Amino acid sequence: MTQTATTDAGTPTELEPLLSARQVTMRFGGLVAVDKVDFDVYPGEIMGLIGPNGAGKTTFFNCLTGLYKPTSGRVVFNGALLPPKPGRVVRAGVARTFQNIRLFANMTALENVMVARYCRTSSGPLTSIVRGPKYRREERETEDRATELLDFVGLPEVAGNLARNLSYGDQRRLEIARALATDPKLLLLDEPTAGMNPQETRQAEELIFKIKDRGLAVITIEHDMRFIFNLCDRVLCLVQGRPLVLGTPDQVQSDPRVIEAYIGTGAQEADGQVGRDA
Ligand SMILES: Nc1ncnc2c1ncn2[C@@H]1O[C@H](COP(=O)(O)OP(=O)(O)OP(=O)(O)O)[C@@H](O)[C@H]1O
Ligand SMILES: [Mg+2]
Repeated sequence: MTQTATTDAGTPTELEPLLSARQVTMRFGGLVAVDKVDFDVYPGEIMGLIGPNGAGKTTFFNCLTGLYKPTSGRVVFNGALLPPKPGRVVRAGVARTFQNIRLFANMTALENVMVARYCRTSSGPLTSIVRGPKYRREERETEDRATELLDFVGLPEVAGNLARNLSYGDQRRLEIARALATDPKLLLLDEPTAGMNPQETRQAEELIFKIKDRGLAVITIEHDMRFIFNLCDRVLCLVQGRPLVLGTPDQVQSDPRVIEAYIGTGAQEADGQVGRDA
């Protein structure tokens, strides 16, 4: 992989940002959940988004994926303003997973990935009813791609299992396979290791490095600081919706304001986990 020059804060200098958020603000009545956030993600970069519970991390993700229209500010993705609808954001090349797993519980793992793939197929309702050669070819390609993705995320053996019968860690990996099925350029992961044991967390880390090697950019929210600082090129810490510190893992983890932000919440720091829900 070619090296890109970086600034002191780890920002690549030779590339245009893939995603650029400027002064993004999200209000809910009197509450400002996201407050004037500036944020750039470069191609092939892994960005971490940290902050205590309620800092606005998920809300910011919702602003980057068309789920919320920011109250003010703008998001440019791949040179164009982010479309205002989640389906159009996916087609533009942004995919995500959710903090609370959202799978089709009564579909198999393979079917869950195939469903996501349909945003990239061209068969319309008529072709699907007639089930002609074009439909059958696309179905086969969809199944092949879904099988390849299950393999890629390390789930080749559970393709035929119902999603609801998978372990928690496998469900999280299935969510990633499903997001990848949409052929994104940017993948957003909301707490991808929540509920995982240390071995599963290491596997998730390896998987995200493999995703980066495929040329995707990743933004991950996580409360496991060891995971974040091992994995990310740059990290943004949000507190009460506002950007507190943005920099390399070394800069962020040694910044007294970050430590104070977490301790200030009364959260216990234990085993590298800070500010996590019980
Ligand atoms: N739809 C909504 N309506 C009203 N308030 C909301 C809504 N969604 C989020 N909030 C509030 O916005 C703030 C930020 O919430 P958010 O879920 O983005 O935090 P978070 O950083 O993801 O926290 P956690 O680490 O616990 O997941 C919180 O005070 C939350 O209660
Ligand atoms: Mg959240």
